[in-house]
Amino acid sequence: LSSHVIADADFVIAPVARHVFGSFVEHLGRCVYGGIYEPGHATADANGFRGDVLALIRELGPTIVRYPGGNFVSGYDWEDGVGPKDQRPVRLDLAWGSTETNQFGTNEFMDWCKAADIEPMFAVNLGTRGAAEAQNFLEYCNHPGGTHYADLRRSHGYEAPHDIKFWCLGNEMDGPWQTGAKTAEEYGRIATETAKMMRWTSDGLQLAACGSSARTMPSFGAWEYEVLDHCFEQVDYISLHQYFENHEHEVDRFLTAIDDLESFITEVTAIADAVAAKRRSPKRIMLSLDEWNVWYRARSGEQLRGVGWPEAPPLLEEIYNMEDALVIGGALLTMINHADRVKAACLAQLVNVIAPIMTETGGPAWRQTIFHPFAQASRHARGNALRLKVDTGTFTAGNQQAAPLLVTAVVHDPDTGAATLFALNRSLDEEMTLTAELRNMGTRRLASADELHHRDLEATNTKDAPDRVTPVAHPKAALTDGVLTATLKPLSWNVFTTI
Ligand code: AHR
Repeated sequence: LSSHVIADADFVIAPVARHVFGSFVEHLGRCVYGGIYEPGHATADANGFRGDVLALIRELGPTIVRYPGGNFVSGYDWEDGVGPKDQRPVRLDLAWGSTETNQFGTNEFMDWCKAADIEPMFAVNLGTRGAAEAQNFLEYCNHPGGTHYADLRRSHGYEAPHDIKFWCLGNEMDGPWQTGAKTAEEYGRIATETAKMMRWTSDGLQLAACGSSARTMPSFGAWEYEVLDHCFEQVDYISLHQYFENHEHEVDRFLTAIDDLESFITEVTAIADAVAAKRRSPKRIMLSLDEWNVWYRARSGEQLRGVGWPEAPPLLEEIYNMEDALVIGGALLTMINHADRVKAACLAQLVNVIAPIMTETGGPAWRQTIFHPFAQASRHARGNALRLKVDTGTFTAGNQQAAPLLVTAVVHDPDTGAATLFALNRSLDEEMTLTAELRNMGTRRLASADELHHRDLEATNTKDAPDRVTPVAHPKAALTDGVLTATLKPLSWNVFTTI
């Protein structure tokens, strides 16, 4: 099996937006409590932020983190999570059947973002609440002072405004499971009015409207069109949510989830542009894939909802294997190859809950398999995504008649001269000989070459064997006269950095 790639520094799709390497922290299970926040943990700082988790997050490299939900946000009163901790109410969290103590809230999250050197992406509650509460919350966060809510923030010890720029207008409002779900018309209207009031309150906001909660929703497409038809002028982004599943345990079909994501992105782009066309508008709505991951095992019964209203129960604790890491890598490449429209994305979620990082409450933290492709992409996909010429074989599986065996992306940084080629060999059983011409990038050398592969596709990383699935130095890669040659193992993820 052989594949040939031509990459030319002049053929630019777009710069890869740093926000594409975002993640997500929801008040759900042990993501906050026992995840990023655990006062009393051996590594916790004075704020109760776990130091071992922070160290892994720095290595993972998320650039922006969405908070506080997810389904949780649609029943959340932001006022519950600010002010003196001993006066914060304990509430039932209807989304996850849990008890929310509110010991962690907006200001703690902002402190944590500073500690982690991460930008915040906040969601407002458009389920049980509306435009007025969203505006009050924004005033609390971003207004300097001299008004009720800004002064309330100052009285809580936060003199300077948080200056939060990126806001999601609700969460999955099309889903019947959502607290306060809406029709497209109801949501389109409330998103429009909320966006207007938010923009009048604070300058320079980036606002994302909710798209469908999945491409498989019966209203997918019609929902995006109608919602954007209402709020097109007021928003910058439409969101996409995609969770990949493999109930059938068919690896080839599972790997075509990457091609389904490609279709999803293309379709949402087309719908957004159709709304623009109707208005003869040059404005382009960008895509925020603000929830994506593999998620299908921990998705029912007591893994999905607490029983008896527990505090921080172990929900959605998906254990990832080698196969999942391949899908995550391929999905990242799909986003990179759509760098002109996918400008934000959040791997859902960050710790414990469908997450690249796992912890034991009171114990250690470790990297799941999916940690690795994300960390490598966040570290190396800096600069311009290039439009490639790719010659490779194809396979048939799932909905795909001719899915390319090689999934690849090349990102070139004109400032540093670095160029990285990412390559996923989707052949189940054949090695692939890859040749890649890196044109118009000057003389180069291979700076690093890594391979992620495991004979057992079901291999996982655990507390006791945290590095079972981990990148190793690539055994067969060379760069001569601007041509990269490498042998890619079947079902392997490969990263080649050049300078
Ligand atoms: O990420 C887990 C959940 O998945 C989120 O709360 C919700 O938005 C989605 O359905």
